[in-house]
Amino acid sequence: MTDISKPPAVDVEQLRAAVGDIYRGVAERPDAGYHFHTGRTALAHLGYPSEVTDPLPDAAADAFAGVANVFEPGLPDRGERVIDVGSGAGADALIAARAVGDDGAVTGVDMNESMLERARRSAAEVGLTNASFEVGLIEELPVEDEWADVIISNGVLNLVPDKLTAYRELFRVTRPGGRLQISDICVEQEVPEEAKRDIDLWGA
Ligand SMILES: C[S@@+](CC[C@H](N)C(=O)[O-])C[C@H]1O[C@@H](n2cnc3c(N)ncnc32)[C@H](O)[C@@H]1O
Repeated sequence: MTDISKPPAVDVEQLRAAVGDIYRGVAERPDAGYHFHTGRTALAHLGYPSEVTDPLPDAAADAFAGVANVFEPGLPDRGERVIDVGSGAGADALIAARAVGDDGAVTGVDMNESMLERARRSAAEVGLTNASFEVGLIEELPVEDEWADVIISNGVLNLVPDKLTAYRELFRVTRPGGRLQISDICVEQEVPEEAKRDIDLWGA
């Protein structure tokens, strides 16, 4: 069992730069072909119903790079406040924004400006004024304490070496009794320290 209180001795700045390169590539050239599925193909493959994906603008849907349907446990309720942690091009955030309606709000946070540009453009295109997108790190979320009813995150926490700090942030910004809906990649065996330090393997 991995002890998440001891982050791997990977160079965090180098790792962020490498992850930044990969997802800047996805944002700028979503059709270039990656070792993971992207776009509307991925959304359909992961079981997102067409009722929620059809209204998505192409700018958000084309650069989707999630790993599962984060709404499998259910959509957020009307009036709820949602944070999409590592919101990418905004597909999940915009689905949530439509679900929570004008009395609710969604904040997407991502470190990648190219992804944020797609998300903001998409929200404007479909008139979802209850969705905003902020630049920021998961490890230092630009959101006040206990703001959110629901946290969603899709395919992001596996890219963060210091998982304890990341989870502390998720709990800080969630109200007591709120909920976390996280889709991510889990390796069900111990990963050797040497492999954890290999930046190329983080994005592989
Ligand atoms: C696999 S993509 C998923 C994007 C989006 N959730 C989706 O489903 O399409 C991972 C995203 O996490 C962002 N990311 C990775 N590490 C981050 C960090 N430490 N802080 C903020 N964003 C991060 C990347 O910029 C990228 O947009």
